[in-house]
Amino acid sequence: PGSGTGTAHGKVILLGEHAVVYGAPALALPVPSLGCRARVACRFPGEGRVVGFRMVQLPPGVPSGPFLPPPHITEGPIPEGLHMVVSALLRRAELQVLPGVDILLESGVPPARGLGSSAACARAVTHALDDLLGLQLSSEAVFECVQSSETAVHGQASGIDALATGSRRPVLLAGGHVSTPAVGADGWIVVVDSGSGASTKEAVAMLRDSFAAHPGSRERFLDHSTALTLAGLRSMAGGRLAELGRRLTDCHQLLAGLGLTTERTDSLVDAALTGGALGAKMSGGGLGGCVIALAATEPEADALAALLLREHGVRCWTTRLVREAEH
Ligand code: MEV
Repeated sequence: PGSGTGTAHGKVILLGEHAVVYGAPALALPVPSLGCRARVACRFPGEGRVVGFRMVQLPPGVPSGPFLPPPHITEGPIPEGLHMVVSALLRRAELQVLPGVDILLESGVPPARGLGSSAACARAVTHALDDLLGLQLSSEAVFECVQSSETAVHGQASGIDALATGSRRPVLLAGGHVSTPAVGADGWIVVVDSGSGASTKEAVAMLRDSFAAHPGSRERFLDHSTALTLAGLRSMAGGRLAELGRRLTDCHQLLAGLGLTTERTDSLVDAALTGGALGAKMSGGGLGGCVIALAATEPEADALAALLLREHGVRCWTTRLVREAEH
């Protein structure tokens, strides 16, 4: 008692981003690599201490290193989306006097890269407060907390980030229904940080305006995205990685047609494909952010990550379709 801890990881979207906001299917993959996680420690403040929030945003890629810039530290009141989680859980604890709480959040998930950093932070805070307050929240209650914070931050959020940042397996979300898709062969995903990005809120709003201005465009996009995602699911279940890779690249082209890619993400996709990836695409909200590339084996993924670092100066993480424990 007196303190609590919590953790959550980043995620990427393999297929179906943006379409999932309108109920179409999307497939997400957790990125639980070291350095792509959010960790929280919280406690009731001691006598005379200022109630507050301290966030340490680690430089992306690895926890620390001699050539990396120092972490970015923010202090002050708890940000809006997280404040929502904190007040909801303090109320839920039915404490007679609502105490303040000190929160230390350390995140290696870079923000605005489509990696689900806001959901990972909200989930880590939720778990830490659950621990501090002894609430023993169900996974549904945790999801509700994270999702309410996501809605506050993004305006409109499908819920896929809130789900995937707490899952060890790929997550399929379709029409509000969540399931675990079949994976017929292991594959490796190289996650490439383009170094800049935009907020998901901005990207979702841009697309909404564009659909409103072009009648029929939304339906065409949803049909195309749904077909690609369902085809990708069949490829993944059947262990046909090269075919899955082509779906990823097709998905990139589809999103590029909507103006969601940038010169940088387009050129990183090209570089990954030239470097031997089975497929590559932007991932998440877009307008910058991360690119993902599919490789069949760990050595191939490592070689691709090394090539991209050498030739484009980008940091990469690798994650796999199937986690070791599930073999
Ligand atoms: C963000 O990871 C994916 C989007 O589809 C937004 C959402 O699903 O809420 C762009």
